[in-house]
Amino acid sequence: MASYSSICCLLLVFMLVSCTRGESPYRFFNWNVTYGDIYPLGVKQQGILINGQFPGPSIEAVTNDNLIISVFNALDEPFLISWNGVQQRRNSWQDGVYGTNCPISPGKNFTYVLQVKDQIGSYFYFPSLAFHKAAGGYGGIKIASRPLIPVPFDPPAGDFTILAGDWYKKNHTDLKAILDSGSDLPFPDGLVINGRGSNANTFTVDQGKTYRFRISNVGISTSINFRIQGHKMLLVEVEGTHTLQNTYDSLDIHLGQSYSVLVRADQPPQGYYIVISTRFTSQVLSATSVLHYSNSAGSVSGPPPGGPTTQIDWSLEQARSLRRNLTASGPRPNPQGSYHYGLINTTHTIRLQNTGPTINGKQRYAVNSVSFIPADTPLKLADYFKIPGVFSVRSIPENPTGGGAYLQTSVMAADFRGFAEVVFENPEDTLQSWHIDGHNFFAVGMDGGDWTPASRLTYNLRDTISRCTVQLCLV
Ligand SMILES: *[C@@H]1O[C@H](CO)[C@@H](O)[C@H](O)[C@H]1NC(C)=O
Ligand SMILES: *[C@@H]1O[C@H](CO)[C@@H](O)[C@H](O)[C@H]1NC(C)=O
Ligand SMILES: *[C@@H]1O[C@H](CO)[C@@H](O)[C@H](O)[C@H]1NC(C)=O
Ligand SMILES: *[C@@H]1O[C@H](CO)[C@@H](O)[C@H](O)[C@H]1NC(C)=O
Ligand SMILES: *[C@@H]1O[C@H](CO)[C@@H](O)[C@H](O)[C@H]1NC(C)=O
Repeated sequence: MASYSSICCLLLVFMLVSCTRGESPYRFFNWNVTYGDIYPLGVKQQGILINGQFPGPSIEAVTNDNLIISVFNALDEPFLISWNGVQQRRNSWQDGVYGTNCPISPGKNFTYVLQVKDQIGSYFYFPSLAFHKAAGGYGGIKIASRPLIPVPFDPPAGDFTILAGDWYKKNHTDLKAILDSGSDLPFPDGLVINGRGSNANTFTVDQGKTYRFRISNVGISTSINFRIQGHKMLLVEVEGTHTLQNTYDSLDIHLGQSYSVLVRADQPPQGYYIVISTRFTSQVLSATSVLHYSNSAGSVSGPPPGGPTTQIDWSLEQARSLRRNLTASGPRPNPQGSYHYGLINTTHTIRLQNTGPTINGKQRYAVNSVSFIPADTPLKLADYFKIPGVFSVRSIPENPTGGGAYLQTSVMAADFRGFAEVVFENPEDTLQSWHIDGHNFFAVGMDGGDWTPASRLTYNLRDTISRCTVQLCLV
């Protein structure tokens, strides 16, 4: 078997806190989800639109806001939206994931009631069922700090959202059929930025001013590298953590991850390429947009800048350079460092190993040999109404077994108010992204080779970032 890449995380299991209602503003959204024609790679495809838009409308909120999002499903299939990185502390069952949330039936509506309690930062939402994400249905989420909370950088002159990722010309039902026939997904047909191919987007800036770019990888299968010709990027925030403000020429962004950077328009006035390209693929796909200086008539010139050619070590090094600014405020005025996550005693260690078996002739993912299948009754409902026979707790091993893969409505146990150490292990020869839905975790260690208890000596227990999605590189 190949060598492992492991990642260790301290998973913060959020306690149920009682919140005072009433003070935070309510924001109302009415969304209609329909099919409609889109042309991301120049050919007509049936996309999933929200209020006629692809990508869908942005959600802009302030810490603690209540979001009341009414979604009408005008598709001919059940539909569900997941709020990537938004922690559902009060209504965890509304997270938009099969198993906890009922799909919205065709012709029906559902109103999500979410509170972005104690959150700041950049995220995105996406459809979580049936490969719908391959047809669109995603959009950006920005959560600003409350007015009196200090932010560790000056307000930017503009704030741009970049939803970038791979794209297939095959539709979501055809992609699903490929997996169900036992094959892997094909290589993507291209990359898109905000739903469009190369040079279709222009971001206009005033010379001398500084802008915030929030970049998310909304793709299906590949990591991307992001860069802007002739410009440095100052990293300021990753999935709700204010980071040490390091400068980067380019950033690797793995599936499901979000980064925000400040870019100063400090170059001679002309056009500059904004580039994304695939990482760790033998064939490299790329797509460009244009950074346009408002005082320039010039367009882009020269070839778009190339991405990093080094493979994993560079990327791993970059991932380790993401650090929490301990003295900056987060969603609350107290400094992010006052939390001292490294002093928390964990109550539990869980090792999760992903594999990609075929089960009954279908290509599936499994965790510790178990591939999840939804039950007819959503698990949260079964739990709430104490309906027997729907699932059993501890129906997935807490360590890799090495055994053959099987289907199961798997449920793992966690301790109320406990803190778990989670080790992710990837023996596959492809990079994997792990997302712990509805939670943030501290990514304390990341390396190749097998994880052992001695790996704990290398953990960053001081200033790592907490995030919702972490990558497992291949080594
Ligand atoms: C959603 O859009 C479809 C197609 O345009 C329309 O038939 C339907 O009435 C709309 N539903 C709502 C709730 O707006
Ligand atoms: C949403 O569903 C409720 C019933 O659950 C219905 O009363 C309401 O009219 C529906 N709204 C829309 C826009 O379809
Ligand atoms: C960390 O945040 C503090 C407080 O806002 C700020 O003064 C400092 O420049 C930041 N340091 C780095 C390295 O980003
Ligand atoms: C996807 O494309 C296939 C043809 O390749 C077509 O039969 C199918 O209806 C399409 N599915 C959707 C949801 O558009
Ligand atoms: C962790 O455990 C040690 C040893 O039992 C104890 O001294 C310490 O107070 C605990 N830390 C926390 C934050 O509970």
